[in-house]
Amino acid sequence: MFEIREIEEVSQAFSYYEGQLYAENVPIAAIAEQVGTPCYVYSRAMIESRWRAFHEAFGGRDHLICYAVKANSNLAVLNLMARMGSGFDIVSAGELERVLRAGGDPAKVVFSGVGKTAEEMRRALEAGIYAFDVESQTELERLNEVAGALGKVAPVSLRVNPDVDPNTHPYISTGLKENKFGIPMELALGLYETAHTLPHVRLRGVACHIGSQITETEPYLQALDRVLELVGELADGGIELTDIDIGGGMGIRYYDEMPPEPGEFVMMLMERLQAMGSRYQRMRFIIEPGRAIVGEAGVMVTRTQYLKQMDGRNYAVVDAGMNDLLRPALYDAWHDIVTVQQEPRSKRRYYDVVGPVCESGDFLGRSRELALAPGELLAVLSTGAYGAVMASNYNTRPRAAEVMVDGDRYHVVRRRETMEDLLSLESLLPE
Ligand code: LLP
Repeated sequence: MFEIREIEEVSQAFSYYEGQLYAENVPIAAIAEQVGTPCYVYSRAMIESRWRAFHEAFGGRDHLICYAVKANSNLAVLNLMARMGSGFDIVSAGELERVLRAGGDPAKVVFSGVGKTAEEMRRALEAGIYAFDVESQTELERLNEVAGALGKVAPVSLRVNPDVDPNTHPYISTGLKENKFGIPMELALGLYETAHTLPHVRLRGVACHIGSQITETEPYLQALDRVLELVGELADGGIELTDIDIGGGMGIRYYDEMPPEPGEFVMMLMERLQAMGSRYQRMRFIIEPGRAIVGEAGVMVTRTQYLKQMDGRNYAVVDAGMNDLLRPALYDAWHDIVTVQQEPRSKRRYYDVVGPVCESGDFLGRSRELALAPGELLAVLSTGAYGAVMASNYNTRPRAAEVMVDGDRYHVVRRRETMEDLLSLESLLPE
């Protein structure tokens, strides 16, 4: 008799059905077969539902969701955001170019980052972006000059550093005093006064970003309190701001984290805003989520090349390495690794899942209990954010293909690089 198996959800968009891992309604094995491995696979439905969850939780309140392009800047991903009416948080002229090519509205773009060049400022002013999030006095002065030379006025929010501890990995926490980001709170008032007098700058608001992969609401509430206090002081001094940008950094589930859902997160912030009194109620609220929208909507698919045993350890050497997914090597980040075929085809053992790159740090996961047969396909979960975008060509490895699944269809949204792509920018010395 035919055995009816249940659908077992791995995440909202990835589940086992009849023993095979699916992305929406497409078997991952079919994608691997046709596109090759390694490849990234994204779910359109999940990306859209995460974005909408943030958006809908704001209800009628004036807000802007500026998707953090750096998390996943594939044009197809940006185009999905553009179609939903999203704004964008960019950190370079390159990201601006992507947003424009993907059909994004420049009037909904905020430009963050500590190192904007004059050229990048010009490009963004010409495109007509929504705001520059300025991080220092010298940047403010440069922006004023660049805008003046173009006969324009630059819309500006100052990015302050609220000095709160986000309880996350030190490499991705940004809102502490000792980080390089933002303007220290005690200098903010003075800098607002300066900005107020500059002829080619128009003040919009205050911005902050306290870190990434934050799984609690408390640090955001603390940051919001500090920012609102500043807004109040400025208003008392005659400088009326219209925008509060609380940044991105909302965490996702990699292991057993229990981050607030997007809707919950927004509602908690809105409640706090409500409680702070009427003077803040008409302000526009901006958030810059990246990971929380795309992170769990992507997996990286890789094929096992060799199984080997050394010194009592089992290694699964796979065809994706640290050049394809850097997070484990760089942050010791944990990503779940599952087999694409659900039924074990061999005995379960503990494996170090390692890549082909010549570095000891080249691993995707350590001591993972897996049942692996030669050639086994694996999916590395929650790699939709900071996966493909952080890939490199180290060891002259072409970057992986990227695929977007949409219901029962899929589209290659970045083809695998060829050797020609890799070598075409280089040349030999003349004879
Ligand atoms: N806004 C600003 C100003 C940011 O600096 C960032 C991230 C974001 C928004 C979006 O953060 P998200 O919502 O995606 O956490 N490569 C690291 C993450 C670096 C994040 C840098 N800034 C990782 O793989 O975990």
